[in-house]
Amino acid sequence: MQRIVLIGCGFMGATHGSVYRLLPNAMVGAVVDSRGEAVRASLRSCGLEEVPVFTDFATAAAQGDFSVADICLPTDLHRSTALQAFESGMHVFCEKPIALTMEDARAMTAGAREAGRQLMVGHCIRFWPEYVELKRIIDSGEQGRLLSLSMGRHAGRPGYSIGDWVNQPERCLGAALDLHIHDTDFLVHLLGLPHSVTSRGIRDKTGWSSITTQYGYGETVVTAEGAWNYPERWGFQMRFSALFEHAALDFDSRAQPSLTLTIGSMPPVPVDLPQIECLSVETGGNITLLGGYYQELAYFVDYLERGVPVAMSTGEHATESLRVVLAEIESAATGKLLNP
Ligand SMILES: NC(=O)c1ccc[n+]([C@@H]2O[C@H](COP(=O)([O-])OP(=O)(O)OC[C@H]3O[C@@H](n4cnc5c(N)ncnc54)[C@H](O)[C@@H]3O)[C@@H](O)[C@H]2O)c1
Repeated sequence: MQRIVLIGCGFMGATHGSVYRLLPNAMVGAVVDSRGEAVRASLRSCGLEEVPVFTDFATAAAQGDFSVADICLPTDLHRSTALQAFESGMHVFCEKPIALTMEDARAMTAGAREAGRQLMVGHCIRFWPEYVELKRIIDSGEQGRLLSLSMGRHAGRPGYSIGDWVNQPERCLGAALDLHIHDTDFLVHLLGLPHSVTSRGIRDKTGWSSITTQYGYGETVVTAEGAWNYPERWGFQMRFSALFEHAALDFDSRAQPSLTLTIGSMPPVPVDLPQIECLSVETGGNITLLGGYYQELAYFVDYLERGVPVAMSTGEHATESLRVVLAEIESAATGKLLNP
């Protein structure tokens, strides 16, 4: 049984809490959040109302025998908290992006190595059912070669973070890092490191609120756009469109059916996905699908239970993805084609 200390109980902390409640081999033993008892309402929404809440990690760590620190804090706090957890002998699951700088990311992977602990980063799209299906079709070659792939992630202006940290560039780096890294990370997982990136973006006082990148992947044409500068109540959409020699696979989180396959002259056909996608929870009045969040944490806990090194979405993987996004941001700033 993995004993978890959940650090940060805002949007993602409550989502992780909901998942741990569903896992038979994990239990949340403590919550750490600087808001203290104010997080009780969130804890009630994910069924963790009995769990003690601490306002600092050191006090919580001294109270119990925890095997895992799950970090759902603003990104600028990931490095110091992860290093503290490794020093306390814990494995770490850290929300994405791993950090704001390569120096911080490397310090985290080194910290894990030196402590002999595992570090996994929450790049949940690697576990998201529709994206898993895209990878399966590419890897199997069943629809021929991938000719082009366009990915997108769009949202209204984020007004939901506690203390508004996502709109402070020095804490978050804008949509270019916080939102768009999901697609960059998945592309690296799918196709390897791109040999080049060429990006354009929109920068405002909150940072890079929009970025569009063309990736160098040989003959396959690959683009991705991430933007959260849409009107505040626009909502959220993630999508991709993959064109193969024999078929097109299209995903749009706002469409019903969301995933379709179109082969030859036939009309689009919905693609059936594993039932797990339907698991959902209510956090702060919003319904959150647990699909990829459930799968990634179930995977992490399962690997820890079996004593096997985590192989998906490791600290090293997340560091590579950060490197590519930072190159994209530099390309957007300079107008240059860059090799990440
Ligand atoms: N995987 C995803 O799909 C996804 C989605 C959203 C956010 N995230 C990531 O998750 C992380 C957290 O984002 P969020 O949306 O949950 O933010 P949030 O603002 O909703 O929650 C952050 C929580 O951390 C607490 N906190 C802040 N400073 C603290 C400190 N010094 N000590 C203890 N607690 C502190 C806040 O009180 C708050 O409860 C970020 O890295 C973000 O990029 C991932």
